[in-house]
Amino acid sequence: MTRILVAYGSRRGGTAGLAAMIGEALTAVGHEVVLSPAREVSTLAGAEAVIVAGALYANRWHHDARRFVRRNRAALSELPVWLVSSGPLDETAAQHEIAATPQVRKLMARVGARGHVTFGGRLSPDTTGFPASMMAKTRAGDWRDATQVRRWVSLISAQLDGAHRAT
Ligand SMILES: Cc1cc2nc3c(=O)[nH]c(=O)nc-3n(C[C@H](O)[C@H](O)[C@H](O)COP(=O)(O)O)c2cc1C
Repeated sequence: MTRILVAYGSRRGGTAGLAAMIGEALTAVGHEVVLSPAREVSTLAGAEAVIVAGALYANRWHHDARRFVRRNRAALSELPVWLVSSGPLDETAAQHEIAATPQVRKLMARVGARGHVTFGGRLSPDTTGFPASMMAKTRAGDWRDATQVRRWVSLISAQLDGAHRAT
């Protein structure tokens, strides 16, 4: 059992929901999870591993997720960390691995992250604001996939269990 912080940056709730899916999947395999918007995390004390999920907008990771990684760089460097991006409004994330954007790759390097995954995103048909509402006319939908999330969670969980056994 590992105590895992799942922090997220979400503009329209899709990534918040994805982070909750990740939290549920981690809990289901026996981990203890703290789920929180990245901007509300005041300390990493007590966390044994951290997952940071950020929505992608025009290839940029959500500001709260970026800031969280920068602000907690020292503590994150000492912990197993995974970064999560969300995500394409189509099937691509389910079909093949999608590389982290250059910005996310830089953040990964800063904290020595163990890995990264891109999951599908969500855009609601009644989205407001420009250009999201225009996009929603043709690309609304939900590509977050609980099965894919559970598969990824079992991979990282195996890594965490292996690390615990080794210490
Ligand atoms: C204006 C706009 C730009 C987007 N740009 C990207 C992008 O560059 N890459 C990507 O994978 N998804 C992109 N998306 C899809 C979002 O990442 C997806 O809807 C995500 O689930 C949004 O998360 P949120 O609801 O937490 O804000 C974009 C969506 C909108 C509305």
